[in-house]
Amino acid sequence: MNLSEFIEGNRDAHLAELCEFLRIPSVSAKSEHKPDIERAARWVADHLRAAGFQKIEIVQTNLHPLVYAESLDAPGKPTVLFYGHYDVQPAEPLDLWTSPAFEPSVRNGNLFGRGTADDKGQVHIHLKALESIQKVHGKLPINVKVLIEGEEEVGSVSLWDYVQKNKEKLKADALVVSDTSMLAKGVPSITYGLRGLNYYQIELTGPARDLHSGVYGGAVPNPLTILTELFAKLHDKNFKVTVPGFYDKVAKISAPERKALNSLPWKKKAFEEAVGAPGYAGEKGFTTVEQLWTRPTFELNGVWGGYQGEGAKTVIPAKAYAKFSTRLVPNQDPHRIAGLVEKHIRKLLPKTVRCKFQVLSTGKAWVAPYHAPIFKIAQGALEKGFGKKAVFIREGGSIPFVTQMHDTFKVPCVLIGFGLPDENAHAPDEHIALENYFGGIRAIAHLYTDLAAL
Ligand code: BES
Ligand code: MN
Ligand code: MN
Repeated sequence: MNLSEFIEGNRDAHLAELCEFLRIPSVSAKSEHKPDIERAARWVADHLRAAGFQKIEIVQTNLHPLVYAESLDAPGKPTVLFYGHYDVQPAEPLDLWTSPAFEPSVRNGNLFGRGTADDKGQVHIHLKALESIQKVHGKLPINVKVLIEGEEEVGSVSLWDYVQKNKEKLKADALVVSDTSMLAKGVPSITYGLRGLNYYQIELTGPARDLHSGVYGGAVPNPLTILTELFAKLHDKNFKVTVPGFYDKVAKISAPERKALNSLPWKKKAFEEAVGAPGYAGEKGFTTVEQLWTRPTFELNGVWGGYQGEGAKTVIPAKAYAKFSTRLVPNQDPHRIAGLVEKHIRKLLPKTVRCKFQVLSTGKAWVAPYHAPIFKIAQGALEKGFGKKAVFIREGGSIPFVTQMHDTFKVPCVLIGFGLPDENAHAPDEHIALENYFGGIRAIAHLYTDLAAL
């Protein structure tokens, strides 16, 4: 039996096994899911064994374990490091799911469930591609190292330390990741750029305790009002971020790159359907694609304080809180940006509130050229799996490990995504198109096979 026949013949078994993986609610953000995280790490380790890996480790960290495996039985052949994550985002709000988040179900050619697209489904594509090669050919034609972490959705906190302490072990000729999206259905894509991310939280304190807004209102500044005034000042009418120095180092994209990105088969209509807002706005002077992939942003992610229950409560809250983030692009230094943001916010705030400012995580952008031979091989593999030529795209999301890996080893990073932008990653009804899951297994099996020729 050849590889393609084997993969075709095992469609049902592969899908059933993915569902088993998806049923483990490995939510990294919540401590109550710690046992599920452990279970998911073991699940990955067990299935790497089934895929033919003999050396497998579950590595404990300060937070969640990571799984490392290697198969180095192809002397003289290239070594590839495959990276992915087994942790998922929280599923809330649960009532907005058509079928329960951790009970995967198939509807209209899509598999629904938390982690289907981000990232368990995509990790499973690699596990099954590697296993298929192993079962059909008896061994892998190249050297493969695998690193699957459990903290990606909370900022990959433990990973940097692990990479620094295990440089020799993780060394490879290329990094391969499937944790991104295709440009659109039927358009296999290779991502050569991601934005970076800084995440912040502030706590404003006014009065020493909550106050009756009739007794005190009018003479006491309200921290929640001050918070909203603050955030209203952080963009100007052209949707530029007003933090002084924010754009100072931002890399300009070259004319050819600008042309290439704007000529991609990207459809404004599909974008608007996926978003579903009554209108659109973004930084003036840039196309939507440029705004999404090449420009830095300042985004308010959550605001709270005061009364949010049923009915009315007349109160001046003592405290007001916000979570917010900046997406970063090449040449912006995350630490410098964090400093500028804090300075500006402190300057804008009146003396009537105290401010506690926290930087929860920082991360650089990643953009790299794609002329190494592995990119041609990846393009060819995608063409074999999907029957279409792959395009090169940038994306707006962030994967801390990619930047860390690239900075540490300076190797080509090949990001082949099988998700779609409208598959509700991080939201209710997350799903993956079955054609992309199965096409992904075919393409990735070709990738690992064809790399032997490098
Ligand atoms: N898989 C995503 C990143 C992604 C999404 C890249 C879409 C390209 C396209 C990843 O799991 C993620 O959600 N990353 C977080 C950052 C992290 C530090 C919490 C993000 O981008 O918000
Ligand atoms: Mn992901
Ligand atoms: Mn994610």
